[in-house]
Amino acid sequence: MKELKEKIINEGSVLSDTVLKVDSFLNHQLDPELMKLAGEEIAARFKDTGITKILTIESSGIAPAFMAGLTLGVPVIFARKRKSLTLNNHLYVAEVTSFTKKETNEICVSKDFIHADDKLLVIDDFLANGQAVLGLMDIIDQAGASSVGVGIVIEKGFQDGGRMLREKGIRVESLAILKSLENGTVSFLEEELVR
Ligand code: G4P
Repeated sequence: MKELKEKIINEGSVLSDTVLKVDSFLNHQLDPELMKLAGEEIAARFKDTGITKILTIESSGIAPAFMAGLTLGVPVIFARKRKSLTLNNHLYVAEVTSFTKKETNEICVSKDFIHADDKLLVIDDFLANGQAVLGLMDIIDQAGASSVGVGIVIEKGFQDGGRMLREKGIRVESLAILKSLENGTVSFLEEELVR
């Protein structure tokens, strides 16, 4: 997606060979116009797949997921990373291990919101090692529901998540795929090469 790649070039900062900071439009401050375009683009790629709901994870997945939900006219569920006071024990729970942060967290979704007849589109802001997506897929399995695939805003093509998910037969659509962040420079992989 041209607008996203331009924004990454203009506002992203390369923190190391593996980490891209995009706090000005995706992870802290949000660019609503860009999030709208991202949500619409993900929705367009998965239109006609019979999506009944979108599933994402707090916090940075919510903005693109919300815009895709608005476009498709379906509800958006975000998995919680911490049990809130109002969430009871009526929950699907999955473990997510972050390689980046070297910690394991439980994510949860109320059983009220995913049912066996749901077809879910999973959306997240970053795809690195794919553990968050696997956790969301686990929750979909627990509900006996199905997934039409995964929409990602920024995929780090030099990490394993995208390959691992595609090898499992999961459809992954990413709006920008980073080829490398080496030497402080962002380079992109053409999306067609990974499909
Ligand atoms: P994985 O789910 O693909 O395995 O990712 P990983 O554990 O490596 O990443 C943990 C967190 O770091 C996730 O956000 C993920 O989106 C984010 N992340 C991974 N690589 C990058 C990167 O290069 N740049 C930025 N900006 N973020 C990255 P999170 O902790 O869930 O945060 P948030 O959604 O609450 O913002």
